Amino acid sequence: MNVLVIGQGGREHALAWKLRQSPMVDEVFCAPGNAGTAADATNVPIASDDIPELVKFAQRNAVGLTVVGPEAPLVAGISDAFRDAGLRVFGPSRLAAELEGSKVFSKNLMRQAGVPTAEFRAFTNFEHALQYVETRSEQPLVVKADGLAAGKGVTVCESREEANEAIKRIMQIKEFGQAGQRIVIEEKLVGQEASILAIVDGKSILPLESSQDHKPAFDDDKGPNTGGMGAYSPTPLVSQESMDTIIEKILIPTIHTLRMNDRPFMGVLYAGLMMTAQGPRVLEYNVRFGDPEAQPVLMRLKTDVAEVLLAASEGRLSDLPDLEWDPRPAVCVVMASEGYPGDYKKGRPIRGIADADAMDGVKVFHAGTRMQGGDVLTDGGRVLGVTALGDDVIGAKKRAYEAVKKIRWEGAWCRKDISDKARG
Ligand code: AMP
Ligand code: GLY
Repeated sequence: MNVLVIGQGGREHALAWKLRQSPMVDEVFCAPGNAGTAADATNVPIASDDIPELVKFAQRNAVGLTVVGPEAPLVAGISDAFRDAGLRVFGPSRLAAELEGSKVFSKNLMRQAGVPTAEFRAFTNFEHALQYVETRSEQPLVVKADGLAAGKGVTVCESREEANEAIKRIMQIKEFGQAGQRIVIEEKLVGQEASILAIVDGKSILPLESSQDHKPAFDDDKGPNTGGMGAYSPTPLVSQESMDTIIEKILIPTIHTLRMNDRPFMGVLYAGLMMTAQGPRVLEYNVRFGDPEAQPVLMRLKTDVAEVLLAASEGRLSDLPDLEWDPRPAVCVVMASEGYPGDYKKGRPIRGIADADAMDGVKVFHAGTRMQGGDVLTDGGRVLGVTALGDDVIGAKKRAYEAVKKIRWEGAWCRKDISDKARG
C-alpha cells in the first residue's frame, strides 16, 4: 500500500518515519514535507491546503491511505473530498473537525455531553462581552477567539482590564479576522496540563499513552506561547486512575455525542487537559495528532501504526489487539530559530544532524527545514524535534540534550527543562 502524509512539520516527519517501518507500506509520500521527510519518504510539492491537487495525486499514485497532519485542511473538509473521490483517509470530516475549528461549537458540545470543562459564555456582540466581564466579580478569565488562530487566539487574563483588552483585540481590532467573530469567555482553571491523544473510528476509541507539551517559549514556563517547545511521554501527571476517568467522563461522552449529532468522528481526538484538584478538565479539543506530542508518543509505539490508522479509517478498531508500547519514556526537545515565536530568519545551514541521529535511541525529527543542494537549511520557527528514549525520564532527557549539543546553526536555541515536570 502507498501512503500519503499531508503536512510539513515534526508531527508529519514522525508519522512518515513510523509508517515507513510498516511491512504493509510500500511507499510513503509527504506533501509538501521537509528535509526530514525527504530522507525518510518521498516529498511531493503540493501544499497541504490544495485539496483538489492532493486528491488527484492520491488517485494517480495508487495511494491506499492518506493521513492528514494539520488542522486547517481538516476544518476545510479535506477528508470529505478524499472520501467523495473514493479514497481512504485518516482524519475527521469537516463537520467533526469543527470540534477544533470552532471553540463555541466545542464548548457547546462538551456542555451537551456533560464533559468536565471550564464554565463559559459565548458572545457574538462586542458590547455584550464587555458588559459580561463588568458584571463578573473580579476574577481571572480566559478569552478565546472562536476560530483557528494558529494557537494565538487564547488570552489568560488576570484582571478585568486584561479581559477587556483581549476582547477588544479580537472583536474590535479583529486581530484574528473572521476567527474572532465570536468569542468564548471562560473561567481560568488551575493545575498542570497534559495531552491525551486517542485514535477513534467513529465509535471505538483507542487511547494512546499520555504526554505533556511545553507551550511557553522559555524555561520555567516563562515568555510568550509557542506551538510547543518540547514534549515527553508518558507523563506521571496522568495516573491509570485519571486515565480511566478521562476515558469514561471525557472521551466516550464526546465521541458518543458527536455521533448522536450526525457528526461521527474518525481520526485523532486530542484532549488538551488541565489536571485540576477536582480532576481532569478539558481545555480544548484538537482533531489531529499534537505537535510535538506525536514525536515522543510515536517513538514509543511498537504496534504497526499503518495497521491502526487503516483500521480506524475502515471503522474496525475494535478488531485490533491492544497497542504495544516501548516501556521506556521518550523526551522531545524542540530546537528553534532565533526570534521565534516572533520574527525569525530562514535559510541558515544546519550542521550535526547525522551525528545526533547516529546516537542509540535518538531520532531527529525535522519541523521547519528544507534541502538545498546537499545542505539542510532552517525554514521555520520550530526547526527540529530531537527525540530520545531512555531507561527513565531523566535518562531520556539527558540523551536528548546530548543529541541537541551535536547540532548547531546560527541562532539555534531550545528550552533546557523539557520533562522536568515529570519529577514534580
Ligand atoms: P487552547 O488553545 O484552548 O488550548 O488554549 C491554549 C492555552 O491556554 C492552553 O494550553 C492553556 O495553557 C491556556 N488555557 C486555555 N483555557 C484555559 C483555562 N480555562 N484556564 C487556564 N488556562 C487556559
Ligand atoms: N502541541 C500543541 C498542539 O499540537 O496543538
